[in-house]
Amino acid sequence: MTRPAGTGELAGTVSLITGAGAGIGRAAALLFAEEGASVVIADRDADAAEAVANEIAAAGGTAIGLRVDVTDEASVREVVGATVARFGRLDSAFNNAGIAPPGSGVEQIDTADWDLVQGVNLRGVWLCLKYELEQMIPRGRGSIVNNASVAGVVGAPGSAGYSAAKHGVIGLSRTAAAEHGRHGVRVNAIAPGLTGTEMVRRLMADGVIDAATAASRMPLGRIAEPREIAEAALWLASSRSSFVTGSVLAVDGGETAL
Ligand SMILES: NC(=O)c1ccc[n+]([C@@H]2O[C@H](COP(=O)([O-])OP(=O)(O)OC[C@H]3O[C@@H](n4cnc5c(N)ncnc54)[C@H](O)[C@@H]3O)[C@@H](O)[C@H]2O)c1
Repeated sequence: MTRPAGTGELAGTVSLITGAGAGIGRAAALLFAEEGASVVIADRDADAAEAVANEIAAAGGTAIGLRVDVTDEASVREVVGATVARFGRLDSAFNNAGIAPPGSGVEQIDTADWDLVQGVNLRGVWLCLKYELEQMIPRGRGSIVNNASVAGVVGAPGSAGYSAAKHGVIGLSRTAAAEHGRHGVRVNAIAPGLTGTEMVRRLMADGVIDAATAASRMPLGRIAEPREIAEAALWLASSRSSFVTGSVLAVDGGETAL
């Protein structure tokens, strides 16, 4: 439920969320809107983006759905430009769009598959950062959250391309934080563990992930709900985390504590 005007954690602010048509991005879009942000729902799937924007509007929030392909520089430039044209500025961004290709060993990865996962999961985050920072630096404020993964912190057998890209997202986040802290812009990464989204349902259906084994590996004994990941992104996007930049927040049920 949307809070009364002016009272949420992101009241009066403008947020851009990529990959917000489904899964973790969708949960973040709903939560950010509940907390008072005007949200741009950006996704490769324009219909899904539109549907989430309509859901937010029906609950009394403010959102627009836009198509973006984060691998395409012109598309990213356009969506950031459209955000500012519509809402006047950009206060926070959650660079979340990502893919998880079916598993294979390091020596078996097809070159095209390697390029695809780097293109979406790493180049895509860099392109978003580039155009978001361009808006935030002159204003001297902003908070960017990049969605990495536990696979960006530890190795992920069977998912080398994904793991390499997610390690890259963390390096990129730390570097951007170091470069732009003095400009008032904070950049952090989150490292979610296994979360119940379409991405994971597909990997389970393909036999890449076994749900029961995965849950038993977690100290909390279960996988995450998308909203639990969104809560971490909300905290980092909001001024509640005003002295946090360059950090990697594990949201993984304790998986990487083992
Ligand atoms: N689900 C998990 O267990 C898990 C764990 C750790 C990290 N993550 C990361 O969280 C993010 C979201 O994952 P999810 O599980 O919600 O996935 P999902 O597949 O449920 O949703 C991803 C969304 O991103 C969009 N998308 C894909 N490629 C895009 C592109 N090129 N441009 C714009 N949008 C694009 C899709 O259309 C989809 O709406 C990803 O970066 C993923 O790597 C997920």
